[in-house]
Amino acid sequence: MQIHSSIPELRNAVKQRGRIAFVPTMGNLHAGHLALMREARAHGDTVVASIFVNRLQFGPNDDFDRYPRTFQADCAQLEAAGVDLLFAPSETELYPEPQEYHVDPPGIQHQLDGAFRPGHFRGVATVVLKLFNIVQPQVALFGKKDYQQLMVLRNMTRQMALPIEVIGGETVRAEDGLALSSRNGYLSAGERAEAPRLHRLLLRISAAVASGERDFARLERGTAEELDRNGWKTDYVAVRRQSDLQVPQVPAEEALVVLAASRLGGARLIDNVEIPVTSGVDRPPLAATIRFPKLPNR
Ligand code: PAF
Repeated sequence: MQIHSSIPELRNAVKQRGRIAFVPTMGNLHAGHLALMREARAHGDTVVASIFVNRLQFGPNDDFDRYPRTFQADCAQLEAAGVDLLFAPSETELYPEPQEYHVDPPGIQHQLDGAFRPGHFRGVATVVLKLFNIVQPQVALFGKKDYQQLMVLRNMTRQMALPIEVIGGETVRAEDGLALSSRNGYLSAGERAEAPRLHRLLLRISAAVASGERDFARLERGTAEELDRNGWKTDYVAVRRQSDLQVPQVPAEEALVVLAASRLGGARLIDNVEIPVTSGVDRPPLAATIRFPKLPNR
């Protein structure tokens, strides 16, 4: 695997490499990233990964300084995954002067995660556009765990007429259901044992909606309360339309997704579960028919 830290070197290295499939990352790689690298291989002649912890997408109280940086281990994993080129610029290479031009995504950037991380999606979209301009891929892959990010980047790519196909990779989970994330490393052993509750509760909402329940507010509130009773501090639990992440209008016979962000100890975990198209109109409300099993408290 070639490793390049300078923009001109990288540009030179991707010349005449055929179809480029690109996986941008912030490093501290786990099996979720490696699944994207493998999927990239199926979409391109050359697989390019990047590692760059992008200050622009972190707020003043976010974890930029403590974000895990594990460059040597990441390189070994990328090499083993068959990645051809790694772009790992320094901050001064990517931002040699203060970045004054930004990509400002529309209203969605202020909702869901954006409501709790002001400026986050602006920072993400800006760096990804810049990386796209440098790497010039034909395909780019992002994990569905960051569902809102994937939507913002897909819409940016389409509206800016970038000749890039954006592909979402399925979330990779630990055996107990916890979505793999670099931030899982912030969890203590006790918190790690508690963490799968988030996914279990999202699955429960998904099952309820698939069975016809349409009182989304009740499901969202109940789930947030249950998390908080178990030591979490929940930012949001939200059932949204997959297409644009807006609030579904009942009967909501379209593909939905339930998304959540909640803090457990020092980690802010996000997760989501896609809910296939369902018809809620000809079924009795779930609350009248099914009792939710109670999950064990910690
Ligand atoms: O998902 C990430 O790791 C980052 O947000 C990304 C897309 C690499 C931009 O910095």
